[in-house]
Amino acid sequence: METLKLAVSKTEYQNSINTAAEILKNGGVVGMPTETVYGLAASAYDDKAIKKVFEAKGRPQDNPLIVHISDMEMLNEVAEDIPEIVYTLAEKFWPGPLTMVLHRTAKIAESVSAGLLTVAVRMPSSKIALDVISKSGLPLAAPSANVSGRPSPTTASHVVNDLDGKIDAVLMGEDSDFGVESTVITLVGETPILLRPGAVTYEQLLKFLPNLEISDAVLNELKAGDRAESPGMKYKHYAPKTTAFLVEGEGFADFVNKQENAVAVCFMEEAGSIKIPKLIYGSADDKLSLAHSIFGVLREVDKFGAERVFIHAPEKEGVGLAVYNRLIRAAAFKVINI
Ligand code: TXA
Ligand code: MG
Repeated sequence: METLKLAVSKTEYQNSINTAAEILKNGGVVGMPTETVYGLAASAYDDKAIKKVFEAKGRPQDNPLIVHISDMEMLNEVAEDIPEIVYTLAEKFWPGPLTMVLHRTAKIAESVSAGLLTVAVRMPSSKIALDVISKSGLPLAAPSANVSGRPSPTTASHVVNDLDGKIDAVLMGEDSDFGVESTVITLVGETPILLRPGAVTYEQLLKFLPNLEISDAVLNELKAGDRAESPGMKYKHYAPKTTAFLVEGEGFADFVNKQENAVAVCFMEEAGSIKIPKLIYGSADDKLSLAHSIFGVLREVDKFGAERVFIHAPEKEGVGLAVYNRLIRAAAFKVINI
């Protein structure tokens, strides 16, 4: 199929939103920008449309999707038995990069939840995403718009590179603000659990959820047979083809300068001391800058044709935890402590 590239400049904006909404109402799939990463959207009520999303991405069938809503009325259509805390969190963090796992209603297509009785919901802050949802009048299930296993797409061209010819359309918006996917928490169990760290930080959430736990899967590899609270956490993710290592401790520049046939992914502050090919992914002190660039940088690594890539690990605080969580997966849990 030919993938429509829908421009979003002022003159074309409304037409493109209308076209995207029509495609979605007719069971099609559309790549759309959000403030976190680009999503591949389909109606959360349409099982056939959702199957197209899984197919285009090559996504494992047991990995459920996040449902995107544009207002609080839609929340009641997709979730039930909603605890009071959800409204408090929504007031503070929506629209924005927080996803809450709740009990699902029967309206949600089975394949969205991949057999679970729950649904993950978020209200994105991206204007384009909100306009597409409200124009179509549909809650939109949307995983990241990458081929499964690849780094998540943070630009329209990443989506085109991965999915051109496999999806109906892409809204050609701006680069994503945050650059890492939303924070996912579950609120269906006895204790709230952070399943995936993102731009809404653990520290911020603790103020509202003092008993919030961090799932083991955030920083550790699940062993065969372990139960995944969030199925997505058990898959290898974000990896370049070059063999990646996450490097912690002092003396990163000295360490990488001794390596042959290697690339370094480093902080701005140390770039001048690194003598091997390198990619800078932001400032060590500005975790948002690291989040913003990391997936784009991971997509660049293979261009060097090196054997190995050494990535300088960020501190695990604030948004750094989200970046670390993605990088440890990109490195398939290979961590070097110098
Ligand atoms: O920022 C984001 O969240 C982006 C944009 C497009 O909104 N979407 C995204 O979707 O990252 P995806 O499919 O790449 O990641 C969804 C994550 C997976 O780790 C999945 O396992 C988890 O959310 N998830 C979805 N539904 C769930 C559920 N019912 N229970 C537990 N985890 C769930
Ligand atoms: Mg994803």
